[in-house]
Amino acid sequence: MIPLAVPNLTGNERKYLNECIDTTFVSSVGEFVNRLEADATSLTGATSAVATSAGTTALHASLITLGVRPGDYVIVPSFTFIASANAVCHAGAIPWLFDIDPTSWCIDLDQVELELEENCHMLNGVTFHRASGRRVSALMPVYTLGNMPNMDAARRICDTWNLSLLADAACAIGATFRGRRLAELADLSAISLNGNKTITAGGGGLVIGTNDKLLAEVRHLTTTARVWPDYDFDRVGYNYRLTNLQAAVAVAQLERLDEFVVRKRAIRVAYDNAFQEVEGLTTFPVPEWCESSCWFSGIVLDDANETQPVVEALNARGVGAKSFWKPVHLQAPYIANERSSSLAVSEGLWDRVITLPCSTGITDKEIEEVIATTKDVLMNVG
Ligand SMILES: Cc1ncc(COP(=O)(O)O)c(C=O)c1O
Repeated sequence: MIPLAVPNLTGNERKYLNECIDTTFVSSVGEFVNRLEADATSLTGATSAVATSAGTTALHASLITLGVRPGDYVIVPSFTFIASANAVCHAGAIPWLFDIDPTSWCIDLDQVELELEENCHMLNGVTFHRASGRRVSALMPVYTLGNMPNMDAARRICDTWNLSLLADAACAIGATFRGRRLAELADLSAISLNGNKTITAGGGGLVIGTNDKLLAEVRHLTTTARVWPDYDFDRVGYNYRLTNLQAAVAVAQLERLDEFVVRKRAIRVAYDNAFQEVEGLTTFPVPEWCESSCWFSGIVLDDANETQPVVEALNARGVGAKSFWKPVHLQAPYIANERSSSLAVSEGLWDRVITLPCSTGITDKEIEEVIATTKDVLMNVG
């Protein structure tokens, strides 16, 4: 089987893990945690970074730090991995679900602007959703596939409506927006180091940004709000720390960030070139304003009825293809959530997407095999 997206652990991972064991620094304090945070800071244009136990916990701690309170609405795209919405709920807030823009698969900011104007009003610098009376406190774009929405527009909307801007950059490490790096685009950004991401720690996350005061608060909150050196705590905090073992893997991975992103982009180009002339499908989008990290690549079938048969046929022939995110508003916990007046793009897209093998370790020969098998399967299905 050519797998969909597996970690590439052929660098210094083993060496650094052995160092953790040899020095007994296997838990949440250690040289690799510090190194990971320092490396992530310089690689993303941040002023500091905080390592966390997951992308989800990075989002949760960021939401609280940005002042999102229980009962608030947070503006989130429906077309995302469910963890984006879950993190909002973990903060006691409610995801207000929006559609995506077909050219980026990221939140439709025109729709956000329109619906804020139609459904919200400002009182003493605070935005309220008229029908529910709820405060709207944050905009949380998701960098789908390593693409971004127009982050200049996102910033303008947040300035106009006094909203915090938190980027779910779970799968976007290595991406840039108009030449600006990840940490410079939002108040805080959360990265995932899960096993299927471009850079992995096995599991883990990072919060990055350029506001050291906010990042210090994230650090405090994710380390049980402990006031050192004694056992004093000044609020209800969380144990969201990453272990030195996980950080050791991530440090070795980050050493190869440029190489991995170059490979991800080359995989995208190979699939785009191979499939752009094939009838009955389109390829994945990249908006003109961003240099996508191309986390995942694949195809979008015209006919949703063919998705499952194609995925099954590819799997049977050794190609680890997979369907992609089912929108949040179609998921059991979120069916009754407030949503934008139209979610037509998300609804028309999600069940036509097929992701194809895109591990950074995939060989050119394997890519050719994936392409040939996929073309063959497409001819025989439908
Ligand atoms: C868009 C998005 N947000 C959040 C997450 C959550 O990250 P984690 O699995 O590290 O908690 C993921 C991936 O797993 C994701 O793809």
